[in-house]
Amino acid sequence: MFASLFRTQPSHPKGPGRSQPEPERNKKGKPGKAAHIDQTGVEGLSKTQRRKQKQKQEKEKQKKQAAVDQTGVEGLSKTQRRKQKRKQEKEKQKEKQKKQAAVGQSGSKKRQKVPGVEVPEAEPSARSPGVLGKAAKRLKGSRFRWLNETLYTMTGQEAFKLFSEDPSLADAYHEGFRAQAAKWPKNPLDEVIRWLKKEVAKDAVIGDFGCGDARLALELENRTVHSFDLVPINSRVTACNLAKVPLPKASLDVAIFCLALMGTDWIKFVTEARRCLKLGGLCHIVEVESRFAEIDAVVRTIESLGFQQVLVKPGSFFVEMRFRATKERQGHKSHGEGELLQACTYRKR
Ligand SMILES: C[S@@+](CC[C@H](N)C(=O)[O-])C[C@H]1O[C@@H](n2cnc3c(N)ncnc32)[C@H](O)[C@@H]1O
Repeated sequence: MFASLFRTQPSHPKGPGRSQPEPERNKKGKPGKAAHIDQTGVEGLSKTQRRKQKQKQEKEKQKKQAAVDQTGVEGLSKTQRRKQKRKQEKEKQKEKQKKQAAVGQSGSKKRQKVPGVEVPEAEPSARSPGVLGKAAKRLKGSRFRWLNETLYTMTGQEAFKLFSEDPSLADAYHEGFRAQAAKWPKNPLDEVIRWLKKEVAKDAVIGDFGCGDARLALELENRTVHSFDLVPINSRVTACNLAKVPLPKASLDVAIFCLALMGTDWIKFVTEARRCLKLGGLCHIVEVESRFAEIDAVVRTIESLGFQQVLVKPGSFFVEMRFRATKERQGHKSHGEGELLQACTYRKR
């Protein structure tokens, strides 16, 4: 009953004119239960119990103080302190990683060589875009070189199958090719476009065999250009194998092969161009000079397919050749494709 009284009323009402309530006394005149409740907040404790409790309270107070000394934060529970410690450790770790990333970006900190110890190259980390960027570039470069070599060492039909099954190969190839071409002193396609613009009739029907991204068609707007390649990487490109293009017989005035005699069966590509060309039509070929074992042998072979040489212009890097489509087949080819034109490989960047 007393306990409930104290719970609802303040134990020491303060203020002017208010007096302290007199603690209730027992029969022996000693303060009763209510007096103990007033001091300890716990009903019915003996003297020893109260002492023990006081000691316990003291101890807890000391513990709290120790925690404050360690964490600098007052009143944290054990779990809270553990959490805080973990947070601090995480922050330290982050700080360390940031510093490492900065080293990766600037490349300013060199690896130290320890005699007799092989220091492994660092794995590119997501936190080091500089290193990651270089690794990604190297991977792209090697993927391009692999694709390039693959195209030079398989037939047109095999290449068409490979690229049709995974058209993303075309993006990788063209990106790599553009990067290579950007380093050449001149791009042979520019010469071809200049020739077509200047010297070929505006109404001539042109076939671009192995067109890549079909820049030729883009630059010759308002002219009729059929652009063929393995994958239609844009709307100007028709996908096919160059040995079998979707054009009727004798429908072209000009056929262009700019660095496009890649398949091991490239003679089939030129034979197909001959089928598509009108009599008297022109076949213009540009190839990397180092691919030729003997230019004359290549010329004779192409002539044997129903052409007559109009122009052969070796340069420092590329060979330009132009042939007119004839009625008669000139002579006979005496070499295999592989002996005439070797694979063209690009150096590592
Ligand atoms: C070196 S790139 C040149 C691209 C373009 N002519 C230029 O000069 O920018 C050769 C192109 O021929 C294409 N090609 C190679 N073999 C082919 C084939 N059998 N059928 C269709 N396209 C082929 C490749 O996909 C590539 O786009």
